[in-house]
Amino acid sequence: MGGGAIVAATETVITQPAAGEFFAFSSICTHQGCPVSQVTAEHIICPCHSSHYDTRTGEPVSGPANQALAPRTVTVTETEVEYS
Ligand code: FES
Repeated sequence: MGGGAIVAATETVITQPAAGEFFAFSSICTHQGCPVSQVTAEHIICPCHSSHYDTRTGEPVSGPANQALAPRTVTVTETEVEYS
């Protein structure tokens, strides 16, 4: 369970580590600026040099990145997911 979505147009990654639990971050890797490409229940993954970020905090957990993804606010209603 868990995962997320990457919205390339707004450079945002929205994560849902567990049902009903949402977080949003910039999708631009803090290492060298590649867009992240994959979201699992636990990790946001950059394809360029394999940095992995925590889906709840955006903090790097492995790979060369040493700064967190910039947080964004996310609001979830019954029908929409809004972020800024
Ligand atoms: S640019 Fe993302 S790991 Fe290097």
